[in-house]
Amino acid sequence: MVAIAILVILDIIHQRPLIDDDQGKGKKVERSRPLDIELKMMTFAYPSRLEVIVLRDFYLKVKGGSMVALVGGSGSGKSIVVWLIQRFYYPNQGKVMMGRVDLKKVNVKWLRRQIALVGQELALFTGTVRDNIAFGNLNASWAKIEEAAKEAYIHKFISSLPQGYETQIVRAGFNYPRDRNKGLQ
Ligand SMILES: Nc1ncnc2c1ncn2[C@@H]1O[C@H](COP(=O)(O)OP(=O)(O)OP(=O)(O)O)[C@@H](O)[C@H]1O
Ligand SMILES: [Mg+2]
Repeated sequence: MVAIAILVILDIIHQRPLIDDDQGKGKKVERSRPLDIELKMMTFAYPSRLEVIVLRDFYLKVKGGSMVALVGGSGSGKSIVVWLIQRFYYPNQGKVMMGRVDLKKVNVKWLRRQIALVGQELALFTGTVRDNIAFGNLNASWAKIEEAAKEAYIHKFISSLPQGYETQIVRAGFNYPRDRNKGLQ
């Protein structure tokens, strides 16, 4: 039983992901001006549920520099549009373009650094408020961390805490209200 389990686990460990990792593959896109994002006639089903088509012949063009809201019922496929733009999945048909470049040719690490996402599932890590904000950029200066907090409208709240940015999030049993969590992320 254990031997079988080990074989299954080894299979998982040795899987080569379809989406290349971030070892310097792919290119960075020139972005001196805002780029259009275009989802071209996409069809998508989750690999684990191929029988359910989530997007069928879906087309969306977002002009660079514009602000767009996707609206729809729960389960209608809003989140997957964002994940496809971040290359967490590939469409079964169609493609995503950034400017004139097919997203498949873009370096994954670089791409994800261009995108800020506040997800529906909230996650904070053990450590200080400052650590959590710096998680996306470990070299961020203190000034940059505070600047990010100001942009997320959470700087005032953090500053009002007795320990401010040094407040321990999990170890002290500190629990932010849900909307504050979102700001921190
Ligand atoms: N990891 C997954 N594996 C298989 N099916 C999934 C997975 N995640 C979501 N789905 C299904 O895919 C469909 C689209 O989901 P998606 O999360 O994109 O919807 P949504 O519009 O963002 O919904 P919500 O408003 O609830 O966030 C739903 O039917 C959902 O149940
Ligand atoms: Mg969603």
